[in-house]
Amino acid sequence: GKGAAMVTAVAYRLAEHSREITQTLSEFLLSTEQLLEVKKRMRIEIQNGLSKSTQDSATVKMLPTFVNSTPDGSEHGDFLALDLGGTNFRVLLVKIRSGKRRTVEMHNKIYAIPLEVMQGTGEELFDHIVQCISDFLDYMGMKNTRLPLGFTFSFPCRQTSLDAGILVTWTKGFKATDCEGENVVGLLRDAIKRREEFELDVVAIVNDTVGTLMTCAYEEPTCEIGLIAGTGSNACYMEEMRNIETIDGDEGRMCVNMEWGAFGDNGCLDDMRTECDRAVDDFSLNSGKQRFEKMCSGMYLGEIVRNILIDMTKRGFLFRGQISETLKTRGIFETKFLSQIESDRLALLQVRSILQHLGLDSSCDDSIIVKRVCGAVSHRAAQLCGAGMAAVVDKIRENRGLDHLDITVGVDGTLYKLHPHFSGVMHQTVKELAPQCNVNFLLSEDGSGKGAALITAVGCRIRQELSN
Ligand code: GLC
Repeated sequence: GKGAAMVTAVAYRLAEHSREITQTLSEFLLSTEQLLEVKKRMRIEIQNGLSKSTQDSATVKMLPTFVNSTPDGSEHGDFLALDLGGTNFRVLLVKIRSGKRRTVEMHNKIYAIPLEVMQGTGEELFDHIVQCISDFLDYMGMKNTRLPLGFTFSFPCRQTSLDAGILVTWTKGFKATDCEGENVVGLLRDAIKRREEFELDVVAIVNDTVGTLMTCAYEEPTCEIGLIAGTGSNACYMEEMRNIETIDGDEGRMCVNMEWGAFGDNGCLDDMRTECDRAVDDFSLNSGKQRFEKMCSGMYLGEIVRNILIDMTKRGFLFRGQISETLKTRGIFETKFLSQIESDRLALLQVRSILQHLGLDSSCDDSIIVKRVCGAVSHRAAQLCGAGMAAVVDKIRENRGLDHLDITVGVDGTLYKLHPHFSGVMHQTVKELAPQCNVNFLLSEDGSGKGAALITAVGCRIRQELSN
């Protein structure tokens, strides 16, 4: 009768929706062939960044860090460290003791950087940073000691020495004026002078990937790669000096900050980017830039998800076809929510309550679809990150003329640490794409702060040796 016909019509529509949803999400599925292609292209861009003739136009910049070795345990002293560019801004006091019982003691305080400071003038940003240092020194009762400082500054910097780095371009959520093209250490020193309250000896500027590598290598000498899968995405590794054509010298190794987030900025990944990737890029602070990062880091995954949800709602598959104000709000899906939604231990009802908490009224079917969308986006992110890493480990293996390489990667970042599946998928991808390497992943404990202090310790020692 009529009723049965209606039920059939509804069922048909649902099946049709389900087919279209699967179809939409299939764009986020990368085959092994595609991932091998990503690995291959990353390898080409790595070479472009290292070679003299192509470095100027290279998208993966392969920036020398002037860190020539990993720690050997002889590092010693009290250091101040700053950590800018991750989820939080922090000031730290790090006490490193060498000898029979090596210890590292840390004290730290988290400070907020208001959006208007992140995107205000450079002077305001650095005055704010120095204000936080001042508060921290009061808190520790150390205003009168001229401590050596290591500055973890997690943005691309062109370094000419350990303590000089010119900001190439802001990435992630930062956009303070008058900083790009400037020596960031100079900006910090100027701000300290302006305040006329305390003195500090800025010894090193350090990328967070490099800090992470050094922290892990302090415990595990086979660690020669650093990886951040957090707000941003990036890696560094120990490259042979003879391969780094951008600086003189052929002996030994130097840590290179890859800045792989910019991979694809020349269009080489466009065949794998989706409509939603382009939308996220178009509405970002730095459109056209950091295209790889925008496909695999915490700051953007939620935005990709939100764009897919908007699209699906428009097509009538979700939220009864109603696009709420919440869904129009940029940045609602932070890494921690994505991680919760994808947690296997969570019942669908709980997914619904998370969505409710975000201000999204969902039916049971809606919550299933949202979870699938999150899964597709984070799975691709982990695979892309794994493909990038596969290129790096194979490069190191070939550098050393080996058929087989055992190596450790030091890792940090909220996505890696909080997400229930990201790390597993990434590990698996590296295994599949670089079968000649046995890659071990080591979670870094507070990499940015400790690593900056370790590098500062080495910097101080070298300085002393030079002055003797
Ligand atoms: C961005 C920055 C890079 C940093 C990464 C992780 O990609 O450009 O320097 O290492 O985020 O924080």
